Amino acid sequence: MIAKSGREHSADAVLRAELKAAHGLSRRDASAVSRGVFAHFRWLGWTDTGVPLEQRIEQALAFASRFKESPESIPDAELLAKAVPEWVGGQLKMSAEWLRTLQAEPKIWLRARPGYAGDLIQKLGCSKTCGVPDAVAYEGGADLFRSPEFQAGEFEMQDIGSQAVGRLCDPQLGETWWDACAGEGGKMLHLADLMQNKGLIWASDRAEWRLRRLRQRAARAKCFNYRAILWDGSAKLPTKTKFDGVLVDAPCSGLATWQRNPHARWTATLADVRELADIQSALLAHAAAGVKPGGRLVYAVCTLTQGETEDVATGFERAFPEFEPFSSRSPFTPSAPPQSRHWFWPQTTGGNGMFAALWRRKD
Ligand SMILES: C[S@@+](CC[C@H](N)C(=O)[O-])C[C@H]1O[C@@H](n2cnc3c(N)ncnc32)[C@H](O)[C@@H]1O
Repeated sequence: MIAKSGREHSADAVLRAELKAAHGLSRRDASAVSRGVFAHFRWLGWTDTGVPLEQRIEQALAFASRFKESPESIPDAELLAKAVPEWVGGQLKMSAEWLRTLQAEPKIWLRARPGYAGDLIQKLGCSKTCGVPDAVAYEGGADLFRSPEFQAGEFEMQDIGSQAVGRLCDPQLGETWWDACAGEGGKMLHLADLMQNKGLIWASDRAEWRLRRLRQRAARAKCFNYRAILWDGSAKLPTKTKFDGVLVDAPCSGLATWQRNPHARWTATLADVRELADIQSALLAHAAAGVKPGGRLVYAVCTLTQGETEDVATGFERAFPEFEPFSSRSPFTPSAPPQSRHWFWPQTTGGNGMFAALWRRKD
């Protein structure tokens, strides 16, 4: 049922499609199926390979409830040995704190549209965090896509880590930005809100179906100051425009979202990381040509592997001395000194991890 590439066929996406197709399944049964599937992948390193799948899922559910009741009942050493494949240790500094976040159910984050955070806290019972403005956590069990607030465009479903990247971009009113890997438009819509719809955003992706979704989302959000256009990532840019800011939210191994997509930790490989790092470097090099003198370039990935973060950023700096590091404050720790590289770890942010590097083209 699940193809090899965790990038295009995540368990989450397959499960959603299957549940949608399974007419007549009650909401309660559907959510029990989801719980079983997610627990299975989350606790795969613990369950017994020699028993039938149904039994394995039961074991996984038992581990999940034990962990929920008492996270400390799973010792650090077990987490380090069983939570992720061995190759991961060569790509990042493994810590029991990070692995503990992978075993817990992820939080649901909403991005309140400008002026709606207070309303959402009241009507949906959301809670506010310190740090990223407009990020609110939802703790209820309702299908938010059906809520009148969503239909009215009062919020977007967007993880707090992604929201932090929009804040790092810090686009100004009236500027012209290029969201080079815009996908379905999560960050593009955030940039548009931060610009109060004043200015212009070019949104490109190589997948037409993603741009179709982006247009639908933009229409619901009443965002009109954008142009969606295909771009295959090559040196032939979609426009000759020079931008005040370019965001390259590149395709990646998604390792920092493994708490949300537990299946992906068993399908992603070191070869994927290497292959993706080459794609990221090429996208960044090509998109950089669109930055005007004095303009900013932001590289972001929802992974924390050495190969896709520091190595890509350092390689870019070596090849493009006309760009200098650009420091900005982390939205999570606004009183800390500004930095040009940001590492958002799930155990400190409560959301997906992200890496971001920022530069400015010299005048
Ligand atoms: C991390 S996702 C973008 C998510 C999006 N920015 C958001 O916030 O919703 C990366 C995107 O890069 C696109 N992509 C992958 N390879 C590409 C390439 N060679 N050229 C352009 N886009 C590419 C994918 O289709 C995908 O939509």
